[in-house]
Amino acid sequence: MYKIEEKYHPVIELALETGELQRRFFRREGLQITTKSSLVDMVTEADIACDQLIVGRIKELFPEDAILSEEQGVQPIEESRLSGYEWIIDPLDGTTNFSIGHPIFAVSIARWYKGEPEFGVVYIPMLNELYYAQKGFGSYNGDQALSISKKTQLSESVLATGFPYDRATAINNNSKNIEKMIPLIKGVRRMGAAAYDLCLVASGIYDAYWELRLGKWDMAAGCLMITEAGGTFRATVDEGKYNVITGSTELCDKIATLVNMSNESK
Ligand code: IPD
Ligand code: CA
Ligand code: CA
Repeated sequence: MYKIEEKYHPVIELALETGELQRRFFRREGLQITTKSSLVDMVTEADIACDQLIVGRIKELFPEDAILSEEQGVQPIEESRLSGYEWIIDPLDGTTNFSIGHPIFAVSIARWYKGEPEFGVVYIPMLNELYYAQKGFGSYNGDQALSISKKTQLSESVLATGFPYDRATAINNNSKNIEKMIPLIKGVRRMGAAAYDLCLVASGIYDAYWELRLGKWDMAAGCLMITEAGGTFRATVDEGKYNVITGSTELCDKIATLVNMSNESK
């Protein structure tokens, strides 16, 4: 059974159930797709259905917790009832992949206490890979404990990254950073699902990862997978977006000297 406290087992089951729902929508003919903040920022009927499933169940299981989900925003709750816990939900991470029939996408659910991650689960339904973590209990892929890569040199490292939806207008759209990084590293991957990228860092498969302008829901569960696997996770918040560098401390220090996080022109 799961190697963390029992109170979180129903949420792990909920992630599996959400993954099953995603599988049912995947590559469905006539899947409804619309755009959100920009022409490249999409939402499908699967994102909405998964968000509703998760938010509804979390409300039943933890009625005194705050909830932030990507597709429904903040759920209204009386302040006097609030427990200090917050659920942060990405109902379908990797929507671009999902919308074109690419099988790398995930569901990510996290619970934070007073601004600090306490629990996270990420499920990748087409791979049937289940990652979960609880603060102080470790992070796992199924029943396998996770631990990060031991590489310290960029030249021997495979890194992952991504590009924000407002890349046409944001100065820090990561394009200059990748140009700088490419000659220095063994390889780079842009898989298209940040929550899964973070799990692959926690597993030691990717040596490190950086990305700018993430949503809180993209990294809320994955960050705990990494710290519970012995990794460093650094994030700065700018205009409500998260700029993230993660991996071993040595690699994070090296990446930090190369990556420009600022959204101001120089
Ligand atoms: C996106 C993915 C992608 C990352 C974007 C995210 P979504 O999430 O995680 O890998 O590069 O920044 O917004 O929209 O598919 O949930
Ligand atoms: Ca996401
Ligand atoms: Ca999403």
